Amino acid sequence: MKCQICKEPSVINLRPHHMSLCKEHFLSWVPKQVEKNIKKYKMFTHEEKVMVAVSGGKDSLALWDILNRLEYNVVGFYIDLGIDNGINYSRKSKELTLKFAKEHSLALEIISLDERYDVNIIEMAKIAKKANKVCSSCGLVKRYLMNEITIKNDISVFATGHNLDDEVSFLFGNTLNWQTSYLARQAPVLESHGNFARKVKPLCRIYEREMAAYALLRDIEYIHDECPFSNGSRTIYYKKILTEMESVSPGTKMHFYTKFLNAKNEGIFDVIDQSELERLHPCPSCGQPTSSKQCSFCILIDKVRIEQNKN
Ligand code: AMP
Ligand code: FES
Ligand code: ZN
Ligand code: ZN
Repeated sequence: MKCQICKEPSVINLRPHHMSLCKEHFLSWVPKQVEKNIKKYKMFTHEEKVMVAVSGGKDSLALWDILNRLEYNVVGFYIDLGIDNGINYSRKSKELTLKFAKEHSLALEIISLDERYDVNIIEMAKIAKKANKVCSSCGLVKRYLMNEITIKNDISVFATGHNLDDEVSFLFGNTLNWQTSYLARQAPVLESHGNFARKVKPLCRIYEREMAAYALLRDIEYIHDECPFSNGSRTIYYKKILTEMESVSPGTKMHFYTKFLNAKNEGIFDVIDQSELERLHPCPSCGQPTSSKQCSFCILIDKVRIEQNKN
């Protein structure tokens, strides 16, 4: 196959987009798509500072690379969860994130659970009585700290590396279970609200396969291992099903996501969305928004402290 632009041999066939591209044109096409999304959804401008949540994986490192190339004002941050059993997942991903920051002279903030709270995420999940669901405690902790670090740095927006496959598998799961409040909140941009910083997903319309190819062709060194706790997860299962559908009918994932966003724009979730936001008030312990007496993160940290005082 030949590159649609220069007619040189192509390196990737983008079936949903009906085109093939050579390395050079693919590496310039991806950032253009990302920039288009940033503008389409009014994510941020060149005048704003953006915090980029970097996990050491291909998507977030590539996002950091792309935003830097597009000359946005970016600061990376990495949350060290202390998942160091077996494959040393956190240690390896932190090293790769640090290496990328150094090679590209980018600012990076690191928050370590162990340094701050004297526990890792596995111990935290045990204390939360969710030892067999480390991912759910991890999700809570990551969401909380991402918001906290952004607000603390006086920055109004943070970006994550969620790609189209992530968004579509989340959408698929929430549709199967009719999780209407999650569906109401799923969007490329979650506007700031009270002490919530704006949260954006610049890769939400880029296929995972395209991101993997970008990272590879750009020679970005990233952690190839999945988090050991994601093994056998629903997300991976849904991604597999959706990829089978995509292979029969290219463009399925993009179509599902686009149609969902269109339906949202027409207002089908507005009632749910507003009632949810109206219930939010600042957590008395930390000031982050919550709909309960105290936020889930502070409840978890209180439990951690009680356990630590016992020993
Ligand atoms: P995941 O929840 O692992 O699928 O990751 C989704 C996105 O969250 C990534 O693309 C990153 O932007 C962000 N993220 C995940 N883990 C971390 C971490 N340890 N530190 C900072 N950001 C993270
Ligand atoms: Fe949090 Fe896997 S990265 S449990
Ligand atoms: Zn070309
Ligand atoms: Zn709190």
